[in-house]
Amino acid sequence: MLDHEEVVIRVGRRSGLPVILAVHSTVLGPAAGGLRIWHYPDWRDGLTDALRLSAGMTLKMAVAGLPSGGGKTVVALPEGTRLGPDRRRAVLQDVADVIASLDGTYATGPDVGTGPADMAVIGETTPHVFCRPEESGGSGDSSPHTALGTIAALRAVSRHLHGTPALDGRRLAVIGLGRVGEHLARLLAAEGAELTVTDIEPGRRATAEALGAVWRGPEEILTEDVDVVVPAALGSLLTREVVPRLRCKAVAGPANNQLATPDVADLMHRHGIVWVPDYVAGAGGVVNAISTELHHAGPGEARARVLAIAQTVGELLDAAAREGLTPARAAAETARRRLRAAASGACGE
Ligand code: PHE
Repeated sequence: MLDHEEVVIRVGRRSGLPVILAVHSTVLGPAAGGLRIWHYPDWRDGLTDALRLSAGMTLKMAVAGLPSGGGKTVVALPEGTRLGPDRRRAVLQDVADVIASLDGTYATGPDVGTGPADMAVIGETTPHVFCRPEESGGSGDSSPHTALGTIAALRAVSRHLHGTPALDGRRLAVIGLGRVGEHLARLLAAEGAELTVTDIEPGRRATAEALGAVWRGPEEILTEDVDVVVPAALGSLLTREVVPRLRCKAVAGPANNQLATPDVADLMHRHGIVWVPDYVAGAGGVVNAISTELHHAGPGEARARVLAIAQTVGELLDAAAREGLTPARAAAETARRRLRAAASGACGE
């Protein structure tokens, strides 16, 4: 059954590319979620991604306590397509038209393959866009905030595993040195963590070396003998096949949709590996953008809300241990409770 409120698929009249906008839920408030411009073997794979990612945003908002719903937009590029500046602008205008036609039901933001400059282009057509550059009136790049929120989550994991939130000397494997992954690796290096990193782009090896991190191939890093594996690239990396080979104590990172299938969370639990749901660890970006742009929080207040992810993760891990649940089930339960309360018109819990 389609469990979304609205899905728009429109071939952009300027770009000729499929724009797929999925609004999963507006129960908590107008939906928000990033714009992903990425390559897919088939546009239908982009649709599948948009459906899963938008559902993930609903959970992300609910667990973060934000009065927003979940949505996502995907522009599915055929493999090998390179967008020059003119075509990119055309794509962004096509996306902006679709967002404008939803009239506030959904607002976009950056995601894989997009950044603040793209948001500024969308902002020429519609106000329903987060993270435009600060000089254009937005809250700017969300990735440093996502990285900071992930650090908060990792501190909670460290407290759970080792009894202290300190990250110095902890062995961490960061998968992906993109916008968020690179910030994260820098913050972790500054904390004195022992880092192993990878990226599909071999050119990023220089970044790794500058940080004093060990470089590994993308296929080896997942099964490194480390304390925590930190996924910061594309999703579906945790499969039924790979879990028995994991040697880490926990997996916690900002990549969306890390599980290939939902049952992998149970399997990790059976193998004694703590998995912090991606939508909890990766909420820093939206928390900052929404707090700043919708709720007019100042930088100190927005930062405090991002850092509160540590408390959320700590509570989830405690609740999971107490009730014999996986953190995934504990988080889903929190989300369900908040969505139910909103749907029945109750305020708060
Ligand atoms: N890519 C962000 C996420 O997955 C989406 C986003 C960031 C949306 C900032 C709005 C503002 O959480």
